Amino acid sequence: MEKERSNCKVEVLKNGPLLLQGPLKINYKGKEEILEREKIFLCRCGRSSKKPYCDGTHKKIGFED
Ligand code: FES
Repeated sequence: MEKERSNCKVEVLKNGPLLLQGPLKINYKGKEEILEREKIFLCRCGRSSKKPYCDGTHKKIGFED
């Protein structure tokens, strides 16, 4: 059985969100979204008002990781 390869790239940005690149399928709270955009940023600090996406709040709260 051949495994399907994904072109998705994930990068953990220092003191910030996850950067995902490539065609993506996001499932958040039972809602599935297919994104053709090249880049998305997912919140890692837990304080975004636009979850699962980053809205920049991590900078205001001084998120470090
Ligand atoms: S990582 Fe940016 S708002 Fe949470």
